[in-house]
Amino acid sequence: MKLGVFDSGIGGLTVVKSLLSHNLFSEIIYYGDTARVPYGIKDKNTIIRYAIEAVEFFKNFDLDLIIVACNTVSAHALNEMRETANCPVIGVVDAGVQATVNALSSKDANILIMATKATIKSHAYESELNARGYNNLTSVASGLLVPIVEEEIYSGEVLESTLRHYFKDVVHPDAIILGCTHFPLISHAISEFFHDNTTLIHSGDAIVELLEREFVFKERYPEPNLKFFASENPESLRNIAKKWLGLESL
Ligand code: DGL
Repeated sequence: MKLGVFDSGIGGLTVVKSLLSHNLFSEIIYYGDTARVPYGIKDKNTIIRYAIEAVEFFKNFDLDLIIVACNTVSAHALNEMRETANCPVIGVVDAGVQATVNALSSKDANILIMATKATIKSHAYESELNARGYNNLTSVASGLLVPIVEEEIYSGEVLESTLRHYFKDVVHPDAIILGCTHFPLISHAISEFFHDNTTLIHSGDAIVELLEREFVFKERYPEPNLKFFASENPESLRNIAKKWLGLESL
């Protein structure tokens, strides 16, 4: 099983981390569009254009599957990627919705969706959840958290006041969809802010759940071949991958 993982930049490494802990693929090729990140403030047509370019890039590798780790791309460009790709393409929004439904017993559950402006504007999470009977939803575009995570600020005053800025009026949610690649890195601060007993939906874990449900993995690969590509400064992406994924050998 040879996998391509696409993200607008470095954030998709959080999804790679979940994939690596389950040993599902013999080879993972990661492509981050670091030259043009962030996608979360761009319009739909631009996101689609960039996403199709990523599919073209992946055609160099004879892949079995592409995972779109980026919520913004999954929300806006999945169909267009599927039309262009010569392998299946799956995204984190469908996976996250299914994981949310699996985690909640009541359809009245109060669900908070935190994501980039573009993801919130797409209503992708809301439409899918509404279609499954979940209507008690609050969506907050919280893109300022992206550069905060990129600055490696995972706790402290700046993060806490940004969480307060976005979420001070949100009634305690039963579940929170971490609808952006970067947010799992601050899940501890988010849990604390909402007083801990909220279920957090993590895109990486949700993708693993979806894969285990919908595909048959005959073998496991504890030492997959990993390749990291970026449209700008690939060395920096590899260094972050080393740190976030704990891979000294990269
Ligand atoms: N990867 C993006 C997402 O998950 C966040 C960063 C960006 O805005 O490009 O929505």
